[in-house]
Amino acid sequence: MTQSKDTAANAMWGGRFASGPDAIMTAINASIGFDQRMYAQDIAGSRAHAAMLAAQGIISDSDAKAIGEGLLTVLSEIEGGKFTFSTALEDIHLNVESRLTEIVGEAGKRLHTGRSRNDQVAVDFRLWVRDQCDAAIAGLTALMKAFLAQAEAGVDWVMPGFTHLQTAQPVTWGHHMLAYVEMFARDRSRFEDARRRMNECPLGAAALAGTSFPIDRFATAQALGFDRPTANSLDSVSDRDFALEFLSASSICAMHLSRFAEELVIWSSAQFRFVRLSDKWTTGSSIMPQKKNPDAAELLRAKLGRILGATVALFTIMKGLALTYSKDMQEDKEQTFDAADTLMLGLAAMTGMVSDMTANRDVLRAAAASGFSTATDLADWLVRRLGLPFRDAHHVTGTLVAMAEKAGIDLPDLTLAQMQSVHAGITAEVFEVLGVENSVRSRLSYGGTSPVRVAEQVARWKAALG
Ligand code: ARG
Repeated sequence: MTQSKDTAANAMWGGRFASGPDAIMTAINASIGFDQRMYAQDIAGSRAHAAMLAAQGIISDSDAKAIGEGLLTVLSEIEGGKFTFSTALEDIHLNVESRLTEIVGEAGKRLHTGRSRNDQVAVDFRLWVRDQCDAAIAGLTALMKAFLAQAEAGVDWVMPGFTHLQTAQPVTWGHHMLAYVEMFARDRSRFEDARRRMNECPLGAAALAGTSFPIDRFATAQALGFDRPTANSLDSVSDRDFALEFLSASSICAMHLSRFAEELVIWSSAQFRFVRLSDKWTTGSSIMPQKKNPDAAELLRAKLGRILGATVALFTIMKGLALTYSKDMQEDKEQTFDAADTLMLGLAAMTGMVSDMTANRDVLRAAAASGFSTATDLADWLVRRLGLPFRDAHHVTGTLVAMAEKAGIDLPDLTLAQMQSVHAGITAEVFEVLGVENSVRSRLSYGGTSPVRVAEQVARWKAALG
């Protein structure tokens, strides 16, 4: 960027302007500092547009050829780090077009026929967000596979299941891992869904009303991998709902990541010791030599803050904007870029952590057996065997739990006589249901934690994920 470029009237629309913008105006107005990330999408869009213009007889074949080749030169200059981005040229669209015209001359000036930066930025950004949907889908697939491998290894390992972070009932490790496979599968389907909906091409909507040139929007849509062109030119240049869908799906996904991150923080603590995190995903303390901190998990717990922040920001930017394009919408990109980067990094980090973590099977088993975790099994047994109404069985069990708690022992440590003092009908058979293995084995309902059911779900997911 040179001083003269800053003070001169803009070469792209200078006809109406006697002087250039104030330096502060340039600073607030320019987006090239961030939208240069869309250079590949911008060049792809322009190449498709130029080829279509020639096919429709709107520009000559030789001009289209010069433009197509010139754009490839620009692409290699950018990728080779040889391109000088100019703030005076505002954004990626004007930077590419200006350099193209420097390289190929007159032909470059014909590229902007029948289009506007409004449809150009709409198509560039859609292509970029579409790529991010693909990246999220791939990242989630890898993460689901990591959870699935954990589930398969520990289909029948017993661990405590929690509600309110209080011991509730014994569950299986495989079941807990598959809970996350389900969540991330829904996240993945949200990205697939959003991608399908956004896959319409806004190019050719021009400034807002369409164009009088006989363009072929179906051809450019096809060339850029879209299913079809968008059907309303006003809508095409004015909505960013596709980015909002991406951000919303990203927020939900980051929320799921944060929940497992929190479990890892708890589980890896000295008090729980449910899992051991690999050295690769932890850090030490500069003062306390014993420490192995779950930093990656903590950061993943926090990342939703950024992603949801971007989501709220873009909703706030878009809210109340009258149709069609307004410069407010330029604020869409930094938010979306940061959220996408954060999500992809988060997915990769979680995949690594899950793949490398080791469950402490014995600790899980012991924890599952403590905290009266089979109290529900006892109540169910009273219903099944003695025909008690569930509410009465609940009361009898509660009395037994209180008795055990007072004695500082667990439910299976009560004697038969102690049990019979609360309900005379109880027999020695009850001890069978007080064991955690029997407890999980009995949860055979569809979607339940029994190893039989978990193995079925593992098989289903293995077939689905390959
Ligand atoms: N840099 C702009 C953006 O990101 C491109 C579109 C500008 N269009 C306009 N008419 N000023 O939104």
